Amino acid sequence: MERLDLYKCQICGNLVEVILSGSGELVCCGQPMEKIEPQTHEQAFMEKHVPIFIETENGEEIRVGEVLHPMIEEHHIMFIEAISRDRNRALLQYYYPGDIPKMFTDEKFVKAREYCNIHGLWEGEKK
Ligand SMILES: [Fe+2]
Repeated sequence: MERLDLYKCQICGNLVEVILSGSGELVCCGQPMEKIEPQTHEQAFMEKHVPIFIETENGEEIRVGEVLHPMIEEHHIMFIEAISRDRNRALLQYYYPGDIPKMFTDEKFVKAREYCNIHGLWEGEKK
C-alpha cells in the first residue's frame, strides 16, 4: 500500500486513509479491508462526480462536478480531498447535506477526489 491510498471495510463502512505505509494488511470486522480505486471519466454519472478545477482571482475552486452534485440527506458528497503533484501535501474537507460541494484554496493542487455516499470515490485532475 502507498500513502494516501483509501481502504474500505465492506461490512461496517469504515473508510481509512494511509498516512504512512507499512507492510501489514489492514483488517476490519475480521476481514481484510479493500483498497478503493477512484472512478474517473467515461463512466455514468461522471458529470456530477468528477472534481473540476477552476482558477479564480484568489486561488482555486474545486467543484463537484461539472453539474453540481446534489447535497441532500439521501445523496451527498461526504468529503473532498485535494492532492499536490508530488503527493506530499493533501487537504481534506468534510461536507454535509445542504453544503455546496466546492472547496476553495489559495494553493495549487493538481488532483482532487471526492466521495459520494451512493456512488463512491471519484477523481479529477487539473487540465
Ligand atoms: Fe452521487
